[in-house]
Amino acid sequence: MLRDLVLKNRSYRGYDESYRFSREELLDFVDLARQTAASANIQPLKYHIAYEKEQVDQIQPLTRWAGSLPQLNLPYPGTRPTAFITICQDMNIGSNPTSFLPDVGITAQTILLAATEKGLGGCMIGSFEKVELKTLLNLPEHIEPKLVIALGKPAEEIILTEPKEDGSVKYYRSEDGKTHYVPKRKLEDIIL
Ligand SMILES: Cc1cc2nc3c(=O)[nH]c(=O)nc-3n(C[C@H](O)[C@H](O)[C@H](O)COP(=O)(O)O)c2cc1C
Repeated sequence: MLRDLVLKNRSYRGYDESYRFSREELLDFVDLARQTAASANIQPLKYHIAYEKEQVDQIQPLTRWAGSLPQLNLPYPGTRPTAFITICQDMNIGSNPTSFLPDVGITAQTILLAATEKGLGGCMIGSFEKVELKTLLNLPEHIEPKLVIALGKPAEEIILTEPKEDGSVKYYRSEDGKTHYVPKRKLEDIIL
């Protein structure tokens, strides 16, 4: 059910590294994403998929994780994602740098929901070394990376919770670092 999928689709930062993706599996995710709503139906988004260990290992250090918990250096060694999909904008098709950001969000969420439906999961990574990634992936000048999606088989527990008494919605972890808590604002506090 959609509700279950949406709730299960969390930002995972720990994975079972023994799970490897096939090219077809990732292509299936992108195939679904390409059929979603698109601003003026211009569709400038293009996708780089990485699933071979060597390339995945090269992309990982270019991604920045859990900025609110910098001391933890997530993901922990041995629990890294095993695939990346980089959502890019073809500037020759649509050159406005911000107009297609909603499209990026829609396709990213679609890919993550598709992964969740298969018992997999991921994390959107907006904080990454753009220039280095572009070079590493050999992307031509007019292809701009916009968002990286890390993917894998989740190996951590994430619990949705309420904001703290002081109103903080900063995510946090249990002492042993294994359980991740994500405060979400209450319904009554977001309806205008
Ligand atoms: C557009 C976008 C960019 C994000 N970029 C990063 C990122 O660079 N690194 C990271 O660890 N998490 C990133 N996240 C994940 C958020 O931190 C996460 O969605 C938030 O903590 C709430 O957790 P939840 O997704 O489980 O609800 C990003 C999320 C979104 C929507």
